[in-house]
Amino acid sequence: MRKPFVAGNWKMNTDSRSGVELAERIASGSAQTAGQEVTVAVCPPFVYLQAVAKALSASSIAVGAQDIYFEPKGAFTGEISTSMLKDVGCCYCLCGHSERRHVLGESDELINKKVTAAIAGGLLPILCVGELLEEREASQTNEVVTRQVKEGLAGLSAEKIPAVTIAYEPVWAIGTGLTATPQQAQEVHDFIRKLLAEMYDEEIAGEIRILYGGSVKPGNAADLMGRQDIDGSLVGGASLKADDFLAIIQAAV
Ligand code: 13P
Repeated sequence: MRKPFVAGNWKMNTDSRSGVELAERIASGSAQTAGQEVTVAVCPPFVYLQAVAKALSASSIAVGAQDIYFEPKGAFTGEISTSMLKDVGCCYCLCGHSERRHVLGESDELINKKVTAAIAGGLLPILCVGELLEEREASQTNEVVTRQVKEGLAGLSAEKIPAVTIAYEPVWAIGTGLTATPQQAQEVHDFIRKLLAEMYDEEIAGEIRILYGGSVKPGNAADLMGRQDIDGSLVGGASLKADDFLAIIQAAV
């Protein structure tokens, strides 16, 4: 059985005080469920990771980074390595979020290096995939997702792959208030799981958690996560409001 997983991507929001307060409210409101019934993680901006990790140290809520760099150290101005993230208490990291693909121009090849480096360094990567609106309208969703999953996971052996979580985030649903219907999301999740079964095997595909992201809110979370292959949510805007994020965590149980 796949344990549900709800992760909050704070993106470029909060400050040192509001980030810690948000983390504390999430921890106290989910003390009964987080860790046991549902995996919960928050991904603050790099500069607040340490403070948020400290605020969550007595809770079962994990901390994740929004990105990593694949080199272990050296002359890479502005970048952050896996070991630095582990050093400040990170357990997860997002790789290939659509904003990094489409705003910052990250390629599947770069994202694959990040996923590989994360696993090698002991972090659990959340590989984000998803199509643009024009790609959906051109019926290219499966093709785009296939490329992103295959290239994002290239070279990863069956032993390494259980470290990975996939997040399906259709770009047209991110921050727009437009959500994929549970049926649309389930179809893509089912497609991704079958792809993983082809790439690895049925057992491995059955174990990998596939989260949905894109305008997840308290009002639609239960319906989305109630679908067979939707194992949780990657939440943006609603993860910045403790009550909303707590309601989404509750909907996953
Ligand atoms: P929203 O929930 O704000 O649409 O963002 C989704 C997302 O990008 C999470 O990574």
